[in-house]
Amino acid sequence: MTTMPKHIAIFASGSGSNAENIIRHINRPQSKGLVKLVISNRSDAGVLQRAKDLGVDSIIVDKDKLNDSDYMLRLLEKHRIEIAVLAGFLLMIPPFLIHRFEGRMVNIHPSLLPKFGGKGMFGRHVHEAVLKSGETESGITIHLVNEEYDRGQILLQASCPVKPTDTADSLEKRIRELEAKHFARVVESLL
Ligand code: GRF
Repeated sequence: MTTMPKHIAIFASGSGSNAENIIRHINRPQSKGLVKLVISNRSDAGVLQRAKDLGVDSIIVDKDKLNDSDYMLRLLEKHRIEIAVLAGFLLMIPPFLIHRFEGRMVNIHPSLLPKFGGKGMFGRHVHEAVLKSGETESGITIHLVNEEYDRGQILLQASCPVKPTDTADSLEKRIRELEAKHFARVVESLL
């Protein structure tokens, strides 16, 4: 008997490199999962084109829609979404969504949490803060999402050196390599 793959939605606001890696890794024949939907709050986000190229439906959901529980729960039911992946999604997730996906919503953060987490700590702001602090190590944290921002159960951390010559760009590049290596596998482990 074949079991139906678990449907995944990826929430992303940016270029979508993480989303693309996850789709390529998960949407293979015989996989236990299927990325069914990409949800973005930005109509100019690169992730939308990547989803299209990979044959995954996408939808733009602005802040009002994201916070409209009737709308969101209906959308997620329609696509039978069981797992939510936050891959550079910049809007605050409302509590009703966190509850719907309890233990099944995962986020990636580009630092070794709890360091450099919390409000305002996203994207390059994180790398700039790491460089300013003089840390000699940074990395990524992949964690479950709960109502405490950047504080859910950690599933994986991976680290890399911060070099004295680093700029935010060079550090970001190293961090993105870690993301590409680990995120899709952690998503797969949730299946
Ligand atoms: C990644 O660096 C991720 O850690 C952060 O936002 C960035 C998203 O990049 N939360 P992309 O859109 O996946 O290219």
